Formats: sequence, C-alpha cells, structure tokens
Amino acid sequence: MTVRAILTYPDPRLRKKAQPVREFGPELARLVADMADTMYAAPGVGLAAPQIGVSLRVVVIDITPKEEGRDLKVLVNPRILDPEGEIIDTEGCLSVIEYSAKVKRAAKIRVEAQDLEGRPFSFVAEEWFARVVQHEVDHLDGILYIDRISRLKRSMYEKKLKKILREQERAGSR
Ligand code: NI
Repeated sequence: MTVRAILTYPDPRLRKKAQPVREFGPELARLVADMADTMYAAPGVGLAAPQIGVSLRVVVIDITPKEEGRDLKVLVNPRILDPEGEIIDTEGCLSVIEYSAKVKRAAKIRVEAQDLEGRPFSFVAEEWFARVVQHEVDHLDGILYIDRISRLKRSMYEKKLKKILREQERAGSR
C-alpha cells in the first residue's frame, strides 16, 4: 500500500475519460488500497483513479467523520441513475488547490456499481453522500467541479491559481 501523488489542475490527465475496469484481480485490489491510503492521507472524502494518473473507472469514498472510524466505499464502474431534486452546497477537490465553491448537484441518486470481485450492487445516495458520488463520477469523465461554476468565478480562480503557481515556482527556484 502506497500513498500516491495526486495530480492537480490543470494537469491534462485529469481531463481524460477513464476506461471501464474489465479485470477484477489483485492488480485492481492494489490500486484500490493505494487510492484509499492516498485519500486518507490527504485527507479527503473521495478519490477517483484518474486523480493518481490511472485512467480506470474506480472511485473510493469515505464520508465518515474521523472520530467515528472508517467506512470505505469502493465503486468500480459506477453509474448514476434517477437523479432527483437539487441542492447547492460548497465543494472542494484534492486536485483543485486552494479553492472551494458552491455547486448544484442532484439531491438524491441511485448508483449502480461493481465491487472488487466484479459483483454488481446498487444503492440510493442522498445529500452529502450523493454529492460526493457525483463529484467522483465526474472525475471519471474528465470533469472537475470548477467546470460547473460560473464563468466569472472560474476566471477568478484561474487568476488566483496562476499567482499561486508563480509563487511556488519562485520558491522552488530559490
Ligand atoms: Ni475531486
């Protein structure tokens, strides 16, 4: 198990549509273990394989508060069905540094996915959990939450990010 480097925007690998998982074996289990380690270390509540540079449709999620222990959910080849309602709430992303913004998401969804052995399962997710699933499944399609905010907010973030990256470069070259 290894904590992997998380790619950050504007890395083009975050924009690729991820491929369906077809082989359910030890390699997939290793990938998921690394993804969980990386998510918990960050710390974050969700991570999609493309965020560590692996173009496969795999997501890990754990929205349990830290003091209540861990409840890791692994979604392989997840699909979102029957979106209902709308909620606007604040989102951030491990791949979008130093930013958060309000995003509109479905309030309730049904999710179909496969487990590590390839067995299909489905469940209903609501509110915050539904939001995290939608955010992570977006990653599998090369979509970031900043694609879902207004153009004005987006351009303000782009400006801020340029400044941050410039400062990082300067600090690094000292
Ligand atoms: Ni994200």
